[in-house]
Amino acid sequence: MNILAFESSCDETAAAVVRDGRTVLCDCIASQADMHTIYGGVVPEIASRKHVEAIVGLAEEALRRAALTRTDIDAVAVTYGPGLIGAVLVGVNFAKSVAYGLNVPLIPVHHVRGHISANYLTHPDLEPPFVCLCVSGGTTLIVDVRGYTDMRVLGGTRDDAAGECFDKVARVLGIGYPGGAPLDRLAQGGDDTRYPFPRVRVHDAPLDLSFSGLKTAAVNLIHNAGQKGETLSLPDLAASFSAAVSEMLVPRTMEAVRLCGYRKVAVAGGVAANSRIRGDLELACARAGCTLYLPALSLCGDNGAMIGCQGYYEYQSGHTAGMELNAYANLDIQGG
Ligand code: KG4
Repeated sequence: MNILAFESSCDETAAAVVRDGRTVLCDCIASQADMHTIYGGVVPEIASRKHVEAIVGLAEEALRRAALTRTDIDAVAVTYGPGLIGAVLVGVNFAKSVAYGLNVPLIPVHHVRGHISANYLTHPDLEPPFVCLCVSGGTTLIVDVRGYTDMRVLGGTRDDAAGECFDKVARVLGIGYPGGAPLDRLAQGGDDTRYPFPRVRVHDAPLDLSFSGLKTAAVNLIHNAGQKGETLSLPDLAASFSAAVSEMLVPRTMEAVRLCGYRKVAVAGGVAANSRIRGDLELACARAGCTLYLPALSLCGDNGAMIGCQGYYEYQSGHTAGMELNAYANLDIQGG
């Protein structure tokens, strides 16, 4: 089954063709990141317009690179939320028109379910159940992946997403947008104990997280140093900050897998590329006797292949949509 998949929930327009869920025939991505860098974050209206400009060409490029014609496409999958509403709408409306034109099923895919699926593409042997730490620019969730389309949220952030936090601190340091990757590079070789950032606990909800206090602590440290004319060590700050994020995420993920009684842990989303989090999870999983599944770095960020993969499993579960399909800024991963 060849699925043509579209992703447009934030600042990447993506089109991919995935065969039978796990074989990626092509994965085409047009990133707008450069466009938003000058504003220090994604400008929703610009994102929507750029998706409109890119999506038709990307669909054609995907078919060309997969060496397929339109009649070889058996279904169309699309991210229908969560995300920037105007941006998601572009993908949803385009996918609807393609599915209608080709007379094939339309498969709605939850964006974060797609991120989880990036692990199936990287690890052909991986099957549910497992616990997945989902960490991106807009989401921080610890999910019990009971089946390919059966998810239960075990914990999540009460305020900011982990990626949002990396981006904010990077922006205040003036090292660009999106800031997670440059902050990660800056942290290499830094002293992670130099700046004592808080590791926040949510009372009575041991698997929940809160990043706003950490974000404020980092921003205040930078501003106070600026006001006093003090020089901060940027590698030490980046390393201390990354350690604090990781030491909030990793123990909760391990506690979740212990409670579920599983031996498999996966990570998903843009922040899954973070070297500190990957390293700490490797150590924690080795200690707990769990197998860790890390998505390929190329599949951590938004892409169409993960939507095509998850779309296959949604289709197998009977999840298809009609032309009334809408886009959603917020969408519960447990509902689909
Ligand atoms: O999954 P993604 O591409 O988009 C969303 O669905 O949100 O994630 C983007 C986020 C950004 O916040 C970016 O700064 C962060 O992932 N990110 C990282 C790293 N690479 C990307 N954060 C920390 N360390 C990294 N190496």
